[in-house]
Amino acid sequence: MGAIHVLLLALSLTTLTATAHNITEILSHFPEYSLFNNYLTQTKLDGEINSRDTLTVLVLPNAAMSALAAKHPLSVIKNALSLHVLLDYFDAKKLHQISDGTTLSTTLYQTTGNAPGQIGSVNITDLKGGKVGFGSAAAAPGSALEATYTKEVKQIPYNISVLEISQPIIAPGLLTAPAPSASDMNFTAVLEKAGCKTFASLIASSGVLKVYQTAADKGLTVFAPSDEAFKAPDVPDLKKLTNAELVSLLQYHALASYSPFGTLKTAKAPMSTLATNGAGKYDLTVSTAGDQVTLQTGRDTSRVATTAIDAPPLCIFTVDSVLLPPELFSLSPAPAPGPVTSPSPAPVGSAPAPASAEAPSSLSSPPAPPTETPEGAPAEGPGQVEKSTSDTSAGSLNAPAMFKALFTVSASAILSVYLS
Ligand SMILES: *[C@@H]1O[C@H](CO)[C@@H](O)[C@H](O)[C@H]1NC(C)=O
Ligand SMILES: *[C@@H]1O[C@H](CO)[C@@H](O)[C@H](O)[C@H]1NC(C)=O
Ligand SMILES: *[C@@H]1O[C@H](CO)[C@@H](O)[C@H](O)[C@H]1NC(C)=O
Ligand SMILES: *[C@@H]1O[C@H](CO)[C@@H](O)[C@H](O)[C@H]1NC(C)=O
Repeated sequence: MGAIHVLLLALSLTTLTATAHNITEILSHFPEYSLFNNYLTQTKLDGEINSRDTLTVLVLPNAAMSALAAKHPLSVIKNALSLHVLLDYFDAKKLHQISDGTTLSTTLYQTTGNAPGQIGSVNITDLKGGKVGFGSAAAAPGSALEATYTKEVKQIPYNISVLEISQPIIAPGLLTAPAPSASDMNFTAVLEKAGCKTFASLIASSGVLKVYQTAADKGLTVFAPSDEAFKAPDVPDLKKLTNAELVSLLQYHALASYSPFGTLKTAKAPMSTLATNGAGKYDLTVSTAGDQVTLQTGRDTSRVATTAIDAPPLCIFTVDSVLLPPELFSLSPAPAPGPVTSPSPAPVGSAPAPASAEAPSSLSSPPAPPTETPEGAPAEGPGQVEKSTSDTSAGSLNAPAMFKALFTVSASAILSVYLS
């Protein structure tokens, strides 16, 4: 029971740190920044800001923001705004106490991986006459800083500070960089470059690529398993799937919304996928530990590894494991509820569904002694017991807290039997 308390405490702490502040709510009290706030929401930078601590957001009044927003696609605006989120806490006092009168601060743009050199940093300089200037750290040496500090907007020491500045900070080349457009993006080329050739060829041959391309204009997030992921020993033989099942599996690897990393980090409810329909839930839950995001299917888990593309409204991530929906790959002894539509020569109920045949264990069977573990798995003892237990209970449960609590109970129950 103690373990459950520790676990629930840890879970609630995780939730608290993930939502220490809400930038949308903070700015909603200031109509003069409504446009800036609106673009934070559209670019989903709000989630990125809310999931971090020790930040300074440099907001632009509506007139300055509308000048920046005009004529630029959302992906460019996103990059420009990420340069206005400093990964350090500055209030008026600290601005005027900068040692030597000048410093560089890294920004959210630096974390995108597309920011060579000093492009992702901002130069803050205490100017003569009490003014503080802000400019791109990548600007030519000696060039004037384009923006100046105007006033404090909101401070929650030392989690988030919101300061108003006069003008946008523009890094060289930022506004003129070619913006990848979802409609003419070559998915195959992007996926192959990201190390996901198997996934790329599966979506092309199954026709799911067309589904992705159609969805990409309105908002699409793809979780592409790496080529290594398809070679993992626990991945069922995909050739045994019907075409309809393969389509469901591949659609399960995408969300019908633009959900960049910061949005995933703060997602609480289960997320619907392109495979979600009346016949099955096909949803994904997210767990976050620090900067690591893990997707949970209820059948397996997969780490979100890299961002291949983040260009609103399209986001492509690579993931470490193939996402196996419990609707297709049931671990329970009962026949899988999903494949009613799949053509099967056998009468319904007379044979186990193909997916159930993959089930390595069931809840009712006692855990096998380590020496009899198949496949020569080197692990033995508690680790082995825990894993099979978690996989089994995950097959029928979706709420992560329930799942974890139950998993702890069943794992410790089995362990105590095993150790006695
Ligand atoms: C600041 O953030 C920490 C860690 O996320 C949190 O525990 C604390 O409550 C926050 N402080 C305020 C005043 O919101
Ligand atoms: C933040 O605040 C806005 C506006 O008050 C609200 O709509 C939104 O749901 C909040 N977000 C979170 C993550 O609580
Ligand atoms: C910031 O910019 C000013 C003006 O270009 C320059 O003099 C100063 O050295 C820069 N500061 C840093 C830390 O690079
Ligand atoms: C997309 O990229 C792939 C792989 O680089 C290439 O074979 C294919 O011809 C490209 N398709 C289009 C329409 O450009």
